[in-house]
Amino acid sequence: MIQEKTGAVKLEQAGLDEHTKAMLQKLKIVTVIGSGTMGNGICHVFAQSGFNVHMMDINQAAMDKALATIGKNMDRQIAKNALTEDDKSAALGRITTYTDMAAAVKDADIVIEAATENIDLKIKIFKQLDELCPEHCILATNTSSISITRIGSHTKRPGKVIGMHFMNPVPVMKLVEIINGYATDKEVSNTVYSLSQYLGKVPCIVNDYPGFISNRILMPLINEAILALQEGVAGVEEIDTIMKLGMAHPMGPLQLADFIGLDTCYSIMNVLHMGFGNQKYAPATLLANMVQAGFLGVKSGEGFYKYTAGSKELVISERFKDKSWKL
Ligand SMILES: NC(=O)c1ccc[n+]([C@@H]2O[C@H](COP(=O)([O-])OP(=O)(O)OC[C@H]3O[C@@H](n4cnc5c(N)ncnc54)[C@H](O)[C@@H]3O)[C@@H](O)[C@H]2O)c1
Repeated sequence: MIQEKTGAVKLEQAGLDEHTKAMLQKLKIVTVIGSGTMGNGICHVFAQSGFNVHMMDINQAAMDKALATIGKNMDRQIAKNALTEDDKSAALGRITTYTDMAAAVKDADIVIEAATENIDLKIKIFKQLDELCPEHCILATNTSSISITRIGSHTKRPGKVIGMHFMNPVPVMKLVEIINGYATDKEVSNTVYSLSQYLGKVPCIVNDYPGFISNRILMPLINEAILALQEGVAGVEEIDTIMKLGMAHPMGPLQLADFIGLDTCYSIMNVLHMGFGNQKYAPATLLANMVQAGFLGVKSGEGFYKYTAGSKELVISERFKDKSWKL
């Protein structure tokens, strides 16, 4: 389904120098590939900032769900007086959905790829994008761990390939981790930096090593929590409570793993394990088993916790309630 809408980026925002304004004025159409957990949030922030957003997914139902989620999240902003009803309808009006990649990217100035975390899939998508996008188009990926250099090497424009790593939930989290691949042009890096600031985010630039900074540090922490559970050192509740109350983490590592998606956590651990060739990054067997069994956390309805639509209560999965459970 294609619904064409119009809109324009407003660059009157204070504090932008002329060079930055000129860079940002070139970015009118943003295509977001993938409309899952991250894709819907990325579309949300771009549309709210005045960009024309082309949302593309192979699955129309995923896009319908994404639009409903964006609407609900904007209602929360309205309840907090952070957005008006008019802003909401204008922002939703700037989003167009596509299942055909060629149509979604033919006029794009920047693409943010947020499809499933899988190296073969990302390489296939970037080869297609390279063929279909205008020559000037920047190709960014929201990957959590996959090498930007490697993705870029499968295109004829590695200088225009960059990591633009938003955090979950995108409308709330301030950080954008920008990852320069080995061949990324400085101008492209500067543009994505300014663009992130324009979206109201705080960008940090890092180099292209497995897991970058965020997941090189976060994922071994999550994996260690899963190993501790697997070894019977403590239960789900104790592990998460210790990290919340003892280390002032807003969410325990097992709840966070459910929130991120256990499949995504597993993929990232595999990237770290392969990339560094170090056994300390081997994914926990329990994590592998849960992913293979389809217990992916919030997105599948159950992981370390059980999720019921409409309920905010944190309920430990039946499997982990009995502390004498075995792997
Ligand atoms: N979940 C997180 O907390 C988080 C945080 C930061 C970054 N990321 C990264 O963001 C990316 C997306 O993760 P997610 O959690 O949103 O995944 P998700 O599983 O929620 O959504 C992925 C979406 O991609 C779509 N898709 C698959 N193949 C496609 C294709 N060929 N073309 C278009 N769409 C396609 C799927 O239909 C699905 O809707 C991954 O690279 C992930 O590592 C995730």
